[in-house]
Amino acid sequence: MTKLLKMLKTYTPFDDVEKEHVANTLHLLKTEKEPHSRTTEIGHITGSALLFSNDFKKILLTHHKKLNKWVQFGGHADGDENTLRVAVKELTEESGITDFELFENKIFDVDIQEIPAYKNIPAHLHYDIRFAFTTCENNFIVNEESIALKWFTFEQFKELQSRVKDPGLLRVIKKWGELLGTKLLSEKEYKQGARIIKGGGVVAFRTETVFGLGADATNCEAVKKIFVAKNRPQNNPLIVHFHSIKHLQEYLIIPPEILPLFRIKAPLTIVIQNTPTDTTKPLSPIVCAGQKTVACRIPTCGFTRKFIRACGTPISAPSANTSTRPSPTRWQDVFSDLDGRIDAIIKGKPTKFGIESTVVLYTDGKLEVLRHGAVSVKKLARLTKLVVTNVADSEKLKKSPGTMHKHYTPSVPVVLFKKPEEIPALIKDKAAVILFKTNKEHYKGLRAINLGKTCACVQTNFFKALRDAEKMLLEKPNPVILVEQMPSTQEFAGINDRICKACGK
Ligand code: TXA
Ligand code: MG
Repeated sequence: MTKLLKMLKTYTPFDDVEKEHVANTLHLLKTEKEPHSRTTEIGHITGSALLFSNDFKKILLTHHKKLNKWVQFGGHADGDENTLRVAVKELTEESGITDFELFENKIFDVDIQEIPAYKNIPAHLHYDIRFAFTTCENNFIVNEESIALKWFTFEQFKELQSRVKDPGLLRVIKKWGELLGTKLLSEKEYKQGARIIKGGGVVAFRTETVFGLGADATNCEAVKKIFVAKNRPQNNPLIVHFHSIKHLQEYLIIPPEILPLFRIKAPLTIVIQNTPTDTTKPLSPIVCAGQKTVACRIPTCGFTRKFIRACGTPISAPSANTSTRPSPTRWQDVFSDLDGRIDAIIKGKPTKFGIESTVVLYTDGKLEVLRHGAVSVKKLARLTKLVVTNVADSEKLKKSPGTMHKHYTPSVPVVLFKKPEEIPALIKDKAAVILFKTNKEHYKGLRAINLGKTCACVQTNFFKALRDAEKMLLEKPNPVILVEQMPSTQEFAGINDRICKACGK
């Protein structure tokens, strides 16, 4: 059996019309001796290529000289039974683009076109097998078969087909439309996510702390998309993620005294001076949002580093939630906030730490904490052997702009309580309680969520609990989420900061 026959037999047609095309193509392959050759006069197999930009925002078409219309790349197989190879050959010859990838290892569309009689060739059918490809290249070369080549946006392509009314390409519009929503990728498909990043798209992925929303940190247009998707204030700078110290040093000069901080295996972000030099590659100024510094992080999560390496560029990534909402610790949380607003989500297991990295600034041999996070001050002091202090309140706006914004708030009000006795007065109509050490038994009749008994468990589960509580109370009148007070020790500083903000303080 030829490869094409196998591909057609496992292909799922989009609708009844395409189903018929597939059946007729299979019939041709079974009944004709040379279905791949143009000498088969009733009709023959052709191969074509739909070339999309990596983010699926555009398609490259050729204004074909002989056909005098805008079509995809493609042509006769001339005996070649490997139709994918035919599509690749036609794409390369007619577009001049060489850096492209097959979108999926299967057929994208099957169409049958009636070709009118031309000179001494009688009217016949083209059994067209179409494959989809993606590229990050913009430039093309027009060859002798074309009048011109042009990138069409989805809207422009739709407008074109509303006039031309090619039934096959009208079906492609429907298929393309489905690709334009947020793609859900498995972690095994991370290279597809990396391709979207390289093409200037935005992709959510797992880190050891929370899910991040990544874009190429060297591409201004891509970084801007993060702010739009999240509705993030313009003056809140982004953390830039690197896969290794070597990668970091390609972009920034790291003073020798700071270098050891990057070797610490903890969820840590280090803010350093951003002084571009002749020997370092530039980052987009948008990541710094007007600061003279840049926040750098080398994630400890192996998957995250593998993904960044595949992207081949540093990744600017805030938490992958809508601004002001709780940070996402599960891919489903990202989906519920950002579906349709970002290009893809790389699904994966829930994140380990559950709150964001600790952000620090190194000055005069001391570490100043700009944002409390997954690694505590105590642990940081032990790991770095440095004095660790908190940024003064008066300096917060200047040094740590992000911490001054509204943050981590679900759509239901959050109220802190110390003892079970306080609860009756706090409850309006419906409440969920988020508990630390207290037993659920005290809260009979209420929806209770236990965070666990250690600080690490509380951190892992807090944002998840906020989102689950919010869902439990959906459409209930006067809902409230009650959160049990945590100890006010240094260890709990990160989680207390999140709780305080969730309460709107
Ligand atoms: O764990 C994390 O840090 C996650 C994951 C995805 O890596 N990222 C994250 O990013 O929490 P985001 O944008 O939600 O928070 C970044 C924090 C903000 O408070 C921001 O103001 C601060 O880091 N930051 C970024 N660049 C800074 C800079 N140049 N100077 C001072 N603070 C900065
Ligand atoms: Mg955030």
